[in-house]
Amino acid sequence: MTISLATLTITDKHHNHLAFSAFENYVADSNESVKFKLVTCSDDLEEDFQENDTSNTKANHNHSDKKSVTRIESFKPEMSYQFFGQNENIFGYKNLCIKLYYSCARLNIYLGKTYSIMLTKEKTGDIEIDEPLKKISNLYETKVTNNLTEFCSNLSKEKSFVPYGESVQEFSIDYPKDGEQVQKRYFQLFKADNSIPGFTAYHERMQTFLMWYIEAASYIDIDDERWDFFVLYEKLPLNPTTNTESMPIEFQYCFVGYCTIYRYYSYPCNIRPCISQFLILPPFQRIGLGTNMLKSIYSHYNVKSTTDIRVEDPSENFQKMRDILDCTLCQNLSNFSPEKLSSGWSKEMAQEAQEKYKISSRQARRVYEILRLKSVNRKNANEYRSYRLAIKQRLNAPYQKQIKDLERVKPKVPKSEYSALMETNIIPRETRIHALANQYDLIEADYLNVIEKLG
Ligand SMILES: CC(C)(COP(=O)(O)OP(=O)(O)OC[C@H]1O[C@@H](n2cnc3c(N)ncnc32)[C@H](O)[C@@H]1OP(=O)(O)O)[C@@H](O)C(=O)NCCC(=O)NCCS
Repeated sequence: MTISLATLTITDKHHNHLAFSAFENYVADSNESVKFKLVTCSDDLEEDFQENDTSNTKANHNHSDKKSVTRIESFKPEMSYQFFGQNENIFGYKNLCIKLYYSCARLNIYLGKTYSIMLTKEKTGDIEIDEPLKKISNLYETKVTNNLTEFCSNLSKEKSFVPYGESVQEFSIDYPKDGEQVQKRYFQLFKADNSIPGFTAYHERMQTFLMWYIEAASYIDIDDERWDFFVLYEKLPLNPTTNTESMPIEFQYCFVGYCTIYRYYSYPCNIRPCISQFLILPPFQRIGLGTNMLKSIYSHYNVKSTTDIRVEDPSENFQKMRDILDCTLCQNLSNFSPEKLSSGWSKEMAQEAQEKYKISSRQARRVYEILRLKSVNRKNANEYRSYRLAIKQRLNAPYQKQIKDLERVKPKVPKSEYSALMETNIIPRETRIHALANQYDLIEADYLNVIEKLG
């Protein structure tokens, strides 16, 4: 009988208890063990060649090459259950480090591991050792090399990489946002689709990041011509420069993140773009790049034939970012003036947000609620009560509809059946009021976070 760690912890816990506790120091947290790196040039790999990585020999570096003056810090995944199961752990190693290195522009992938001790089946009896590299490459639908020398030898081609598709936006940011030695960093957004030669294979490499950062992420079928892709790059200077005010003359591209959008059909001859996947890699997060990419996407689709832009299943952090951007945009619209906001939600608000920025009506309503809270004087009891009531009415609307539906069926069903329906569908008043108050508190806390960012 062979037993994997997963079955050991679930079905064979008691039988193998002793064996398991003897090996508990060999269970690694997979989120901590995986190390990502965006590699700009061979110098980034010096440490790796020095380490005792048995699968590799030292590469023949070409030191005369122009090299990026920027190093991208390594980073960790946010989740890894799609690879290593719900427990997110890897059995069989001490001091395990799984290296997932991507060349920064072409996204060629190196996958390797180092460890100080590895158990063997002879040592563990029947307990199987995990094979983390296999688990990863099985889910990667693209070529991965386990040979660091081979990976390194291709790095000289990174400088000549030109992104796929057309450039849609260039912008710069001040970095750090509030530090003393502020520098400008330059970025460029490209739009591509599956008709561009080579892009399908590139997309296969980009999407390997998804399962590490997006809950329940899955790969998409990009054969469908209705997919649009926006890919964001940083332009990394190739020469040290003291003049950070102007764009670097010599630079190489470094992948920052990307977004996939599906153009749904909307009657009669319009489109309804839907943001499906949106990712900014950790070394580039919280410096305004997601906001910039989203704003550029809004501008790109701000044409007559677009009905509105929707987002498929937004993550909590994406929703925060989107709320801040949408409120910033809408707070200058005439229908979102404090007077109009205090009169309640209106069709005109939805219309104006859609016409000006293609914001969907559902999101426009959220923007209204946030901006109205911003203009409410919470020290004024009446004003504040009236706001809370408006939100609770919206929250309670589905329940009210359910009651109306039940009343409608009353004459059509036997009395006993109707009583059973009432019993299962009607929530006691006290419980409902309590639940509404809790829901309101959560919403208000979210909204106040956004308001704080609006200044
Ligand atoms: C969500 C995500 C796209 C945000 O990108 P980003 O470039 O970091 O966002 P920005 O820097 O433009 O953030 C703007 C604001 O949004 C809010 N925000 C963004 N990420 C946040 C986070 N992780 N936690 C809390 N607030 C966050 C903040 O208020 C932030 O402003 P601040 O940094 O001044 O506080 C990025 O974190 C990401 O790709 N995450 C993993 C994948 C994911 O969740 N994708 C969305 C699936 S739909």
